[in-house]
Amino acid sequence: MHKTLLLLHFISLWSFSCAISHSYDVVVYGATASGVIAAVSAARENVSVALLEPSKHIGGMVSGGLSTTDLGIRQVIGGYVKDIYLRAATYYKDANLLHNNTWGYWDGYFWYPEPHVAEKIFNDMVNESGVDLFYNSRLTEKNGVLKQNGKILSVTIENGDTFSGKVFIDATYEGDLMAFADASYVVGGNLDYPDANYTMRSKIWQEHINYVQGFIYFLANDPSLPAEYRAVINQWGLSKDEFTDNNNWPYALYVREARRLVGDFVMQQKDVIQQDLKKPDPIGMGSYGLDVHPVQLYADDSSTLLYEGELDEESDREHWRGSGESLCQIPYRILLPKKTEVTNLLVTVCVSASHVAYASLRMEPQYMIMGQAAGLAAAIAAKNDSFVHNVDTNFTLYYYFYIYACFCLFIWFFCSFKLFIF
Ligand SMILES: *[C@@H]1O[C@H](CO)[C@@H](O)[C@H](O)[C@H]1NC(C)=O
Ligand SMILES: *[C@@H]1O[C@H](CO)[C@@H](O)[C@H](O)[C@H]1NC(C)=O
Ligand SMILES: *[C@@H]1O[C@H](CO)[C@@H](O)[C@H](O)[C@H]1NC(C)=O
Ligand SMILES: *[C@@H]1O[C@H](CO)[C@@H](O)[C@H](O)[C@H]1NC(C)=O
Ligand SMILES: *[C@@H]1O[C@H](CO)[C@@H](O)[C@H](O)[C@H]1NC(C)=O
Repeated sequence: MHKTLLLLHFISLWSFSCAISHSYDVVVYGATASGVIAAVSAARENVSVALLEPSKHIGGMVSGGLSTTDLGIRQVIGGYVKDIYLRAATYYKDANLLHNNTWGYWDGYFWYPEPHVAEKIFNDMVNESGVDLFYNSRLTEKNGVLKQNGKILSVTIENGDTFSGKVFIDATYEGDLMAFADASYVVGGNLDYPDANYTMRSKIWQEHINYVQGFIYFLANDPSLPAEYRAVINQWGLSKDEFTDNNNWPYALYVREARRLVGDFVMQQKDVIQQDLKKPDPIGMGSYGLDVHPVQLYADDSSTLLYEGELDEESDREHWRGSGESLCQIPYRILLPKKTEVTNLLVTVCVSASHVAYASLRMEPQYMIMGQAAGLAAAIAAKNDSFVHNVDTNFTLYYYFYIYACFCLFIWFFCSFKLFIF
């Protein structure tokens, strides 16, 4: 008995003193969809990559419940991101679940995979790319980032392990890594969550769960509602094959907008829907109209209830979309903190944009597109031992053209080959 206790004591002491120091070329914090693509993109350039995820699941909202992701103009979604939707089509075809009239099955791609399918695809991509994935790896709230002369040297996670890297990528919805690294950022009005500490955040999160569960319970059970109405609601329930290790409740809190980086360049409304749609350093395209949600309801002079802070009229959106004016180039610069602040960090979700511009950019496909570019840029900067600010974006651009040309050639070859056979 004593011996066992002694042994246990020894083991716990040992594990205490046994924090591991990892070393990688690129360290990605946050395995959101954007973070997964960033990590895979860097790894495909043959650099070593660690992907740190605070929770025990990857894919962020894409595998966390936002299945019918807003796509905007599908034609501008390409690269590794499109591969996800191709894999989804293959998955459902193999399972005999895909039909030509399935909603979301367009142009040979399936755009709305269920959460567990999306997570499987992300896992496969991580697995194939050789990225080292670390679950339950949240940055320590105090001293989570070690920085020297504008350069992040390492990050520390809550079990004590450290990860040093040449280049870091922050792909979280909250932007903790960039905030802990003292990059400038802003937070919109009325928002408590982004800057709250971990304890407060989990409290806010629980309040949202309570609210939604209470609301659904009310709709299903409250005697003040008509019985027929409750009967309809009671036909529904949580999805039995989703989030199976979480009582079928989604893993992710939908954080639509938290911190926003303030880099040397800040993308604004004019860069999204007006005159400055082209950029010298494009890494992808945005296409979604302005989707600014209301801040509050107020009563006007005639006691009519109105939304304040909303820019979300469907007609507006269609107007911008219809005229093609919501198509904009996303510049590389919005991934970068100020050069005087941090030189080896890229940010792929909490990018440098105004509230209004962000309301168009903040779509999961665009987060992933920015993730791919960030992964490539991080690999280049790591190999070249240069600031992320000095990555030659023409190189990036040519690279994309090269990939695109190869893709076209492949399709052409494939089609000719098919023609030849049949
Ligand atoms: C990565 O390494 C593999 C195997 O050595 C090689 O075939 C591939 O061309 C390399 N890719 C890049 C982008 O360097
Ligand atoms: C859809 O239609 C095409 C052409 O009729 C057919 O070849 C294909 O197998 C159908 N099913 C799916 C899932 O694409
Ligand atoms: C990828 O998944 C397969 C099957 O689960 C597993 O055998 C293999 O070890 C995994 N590879 C990596 C690099 O994790
Ligand atoms: C977290 O924030 C709350 C509210 O600001 C504060 O009361 C609490 O002490 C903080 N906790 C820690 C661990 O810093
Ligand atoms: C490598 O770094 C140098 C100096 O910082 C820079 O001029 C060059 O463009 C970089 N190369 C690439 C491919 O980004």
